[in-house]
Amino acid sequence: MAEKPTGKKRVAILISGRGSNMVALIEAAKADDYPAAIVLVVSNRPDASGLSRAREAGIETAIVDHRQFGEDRAAFERAMDAQLRQHRIDLVCLAGFMRLFTPAFVRLWNGRMLNIHPALLPQFKGLHTHRRALEAGVKRHGATVHFVVPEMDSGPIVAQESVPVLEGDTEETLAHRVLEAEHRIYPQALRLVAEGRATFAPSNNREASH
Ligand code: GRF
Repeated sequence: MAEKPTGKKRVAILISGRGSNMVALIEAAKADDYPAAIVLVVSNRPDASGLSRAREAGIETAIVDHRQFGEDRAAFERAMDAQLRQHRIDLVCLAGFMRLFTPAFVRLWNGRMLNIHPALLPQFKGLHTHRRALEAGVKRHGATVHFVVPEMDSGPIVAQESVPVLEGDTEETLAHRVLEAEHRIYPQALRLVAEGRATFAPSNNREASH
């Protein structure tokens, strides 16, 4: 059956694991007035549990297994880019996607790729953010959605939400509180970007060069 054009941005979500942020985006995108449609979920891990959650939601899935490409990151990224182009993707959401892209790939999707990070950037870039927040003794922690740039966890911020760090918190209790915030801000951030209300337009992306 031919697809009807909807005027909605076509979104791919890239995952490596359980995909709870993916589910939050899929749920939000069910609303008629939501400006984006989730049309593809891609995992770099064949065993990611999020894949079956995506299929249950009726979303097309693909696997681009990085291990099949060995050290050849460029080949992995070409395969990923081919999936995205085949599905005529407008915007990419990284949601627990545990691979770093090369600057060349990031440039192809400049201004059109978002990531969610479980900390209040620029604090606690990288891994183990909840443990590090507890060790640092911060009173507030949280989550950030940002445009992806070549430097890890560093692009312009689209949305942030802070949560309190409570007496007696463990990594798990804090992670849970932050995750609830993640599930609120990712759909909000994607809406802003899909509606063109949050933009980041460096000069050398593929769109601009057409
Ligand atoms: C989230 O905490 C996200 O911020 C981080 O990885 C985790 C992924 O969780 N980048 P999920 O797969 O979305 O449940």
